Amino acid sequence: MAKKSLISIGDFTKDEILHVLETAKEFEQNKVQNFLEGKVIASLFFEPSTRTRLSFETAINRLGAKVIGFSDASNTSQSKGETLKDTIKMVSNYVDMIVMRHPLEGSSRYASEVASVPVVNAGDGANQHPSQTLLDLYSIMQTQGTLDGLTINMVGDLKYGRTTHSLLQAMSHFKTKFIFTSPDELKMPKEYKAFLDSKGIKYEETDSLEEHLNDCDILYMTRVQQERFTDPMEYERVKDVYRLTASMLDNVKPGMKILHPLPRITEIDQDVDDTPYAYYFKQAENGLYVRMAIISYLLGYR
Ligand code: CP
Repeated sequence: MAKKSLISIGDFTKDEILHVLETAKEFEQNKVQNFLEGKVIASLFFEPSTRTRLSFETAINRLGAKVIGFSDASNTSQSKGETLKDTIKMVSNYVDMIVMRHPLEGSSRYASEVASVPVVNAGDGANQHPSQTLLDLYSIMQTQGTLDGLTINMVGDLKYGRTTHSLLQAMSHFKTKFIFTSPDELKMPKEYKAFLDSKGIKYEETDSLEEHLNDCDILYMTRVQQERFTDPMEYERVKDVYRLTASMLDNVKPGMKILHPLPRITEIDQDVDDTPYAYYFKQAENGLYVRMAIISYLLGYR
């Protein structure tokens, strides 16, 4: 089988996406699978992470493979000036797959071109986070029973929020209507709107969280990405722009679910956690099953 990486959600066809979601369902029912015994997978995190790293590493363990890597690049030879190219070429010689998070947009694509083994992009700057997208799709399917014909309201930092960029691209396969709720400074970038225009997919933009709260199936909340701002004053201006509270949910659709890639800061009040609409902790759990499925698929086992 030719080497296949997952760098952008666009690397997977609709059929491949649905296949991974089906396999994840199998793994949710049976979490212990040992068919990757003897394999070694590298987990290279050049940027902080809780969920993505730990769920990938758990997935690797649950599949019977071993994991090597780092969660802090300052302890590696990068601090002595080693290039990303040399690091990836070296690690390629040790392992069967590389999972990598890096702050630079395009770094994962570059790594996949240099590596002799499959690479999974675990987030590259403000660009893409495709494994998050697959777990988002899995959670949407789990809660709505379908991916087709839904209204998704994306809220918050749509400029730097890589999860919204990947999700938008993936949902374009499924006749989605989008609402983009953001302040002016954090609007969905033009290239993603042009992508939707080219596919004839409808979207509306607003700066009011209340405006479309009651007519969406999925409320996809996001954190304002402090680490991507070059101007700290701009971050201060927008950081608390939205705060969802339980009292705002009185008239939402009964089946509406709130997703959030997490971590959250102040954009979802803790009183929302106890409502039937909160799904973000289950969404994070789903990351384990979906990442098991991604690894299995890329290594040619499912
Ligand atoms: N959703 C997500 O990427 O979380 P972490 O940054 O904790 O991995």
